[in-house]
Amino acid sequence: MAIQWFPGHMYSTQKAITERVKDIDVVIELLDARLPGSSANPMLAELTAGRPTLKVLNKQDLADPARTEAWLAHYNALPDTRAISLDASLTMPAQRIVRACHELSPNRGGMAKPMRVLICGIPNVGKSTLINTLTGGRKAKTGDEAGITKLEQRITLADDFYLWDTPGMLWPRIIVPKSGYNLAASGAVGRNAFDEEEVALELLDYLKANYAEGLVTRFKLVELDAATMAAMKDEEVLDTIGRKRGALLGKGKVNLQKAAEIVMHEFRAGNLGRITLETPEEFAQWLAAGQRADAERAAKKAARGKKGKQKPVAPETTEADGNPSADE
Ligand code: G4P
Repeated sequence: MAIQWFPGHMYSTQKAITERVKDIDVVIELLDARLPGSSANPMLAELTAGRPTLKVLNKQDLADPARTEAWLAHYNALPDTRAISLDASLTMPAQRIVRACHELSPNRGGMAKPMRVLICGIPNVGKSTLINTLTGGRKAKTGDEAGITKLEQRITLADDFYLWDTPGMLWPRIIVPKSGYNLAASGAVGRNAFDEEEVALELLDYLKANYAEGLVTRFKLVELDAATMAAMKDEEVLDTIGRKRGALLGKGKVNLQKAAEIVMHEFRAGNLGRITLETPEEFAQWLAAGQRADAERAAKKAARGKKGKQKPVAPETTEADGNPSADE
């Protein structure tokens, strides 16, 4: 089952970004440092029409430091792009953000030409926390200026530096299945939109191959070493964790739903160690495969359309699921 969700404010946010971007010098894309590729909104580049971009890898405290470095190097090698990593423990992130924006748009600055920045990110990536730190807890200004809708907030970081906030936004159709799982594991997708057991199994599949030690230590899997765990089925690892944590049903059966919740909670809280669920190379491969599969689907659909006699196919995106973590 692919991860599906109702995209919340997607259309209105999309419209607001399209309007606002005309007067924007730099776009800040807030990414989750544990899943930088998967947390990047594929629609954003289109909407922001090639504006210089600052990629902020947030929650770096939860991510694998070596992989964060790899992602920063990857993004910094792209044209018109800078990347920095942050986390909520840093009390003065503004200086780094302001400096990076000036590097990206050197002609802006001063009262006559203030820097105008748009900040975007998926739900739960830590945008409110960051903005709160940037403003020192002052209430951000909302909607009392022509052209600023309720959907946006203009925040004055300095007399010549304005930041426009946008609601957390997901996109409606994900073509990289692994991205759906990683987004769900990270907490970006509301829990009604996915099967926790399935997401936990995907997560364990990756962790046992890449971060087995964290699993062994946290869940006291003393009888297992990394090689033994790598040879186990994901279901067996989940079952073992459930037993260790006493998540049992009657007759000694493991409550797999409960075990899945435990695995996801421990991952999100950082209790399995600092983990990044994708490298730039892995993500590039997943994306290429996703795009190929998507092109094949589109070609098949077009061929069916030409024949014109087939029954209508089910839509690829359901909008039935709620997304409680998206901004309401
Ligand atoms: P959003 O506006 O992008 O939706 O995200 P928000 O700032 O509300 O942050 C979502 C969750 O992520 C919050 O936790 C917040 O504390 C946490 N968070 C934000 N930045 C960081 C960071 O750099 N590192 C870590 N480890 N966590 C971060 P929560 O559990 O939803 O709420 P709470 O426990 O803070 O009350």
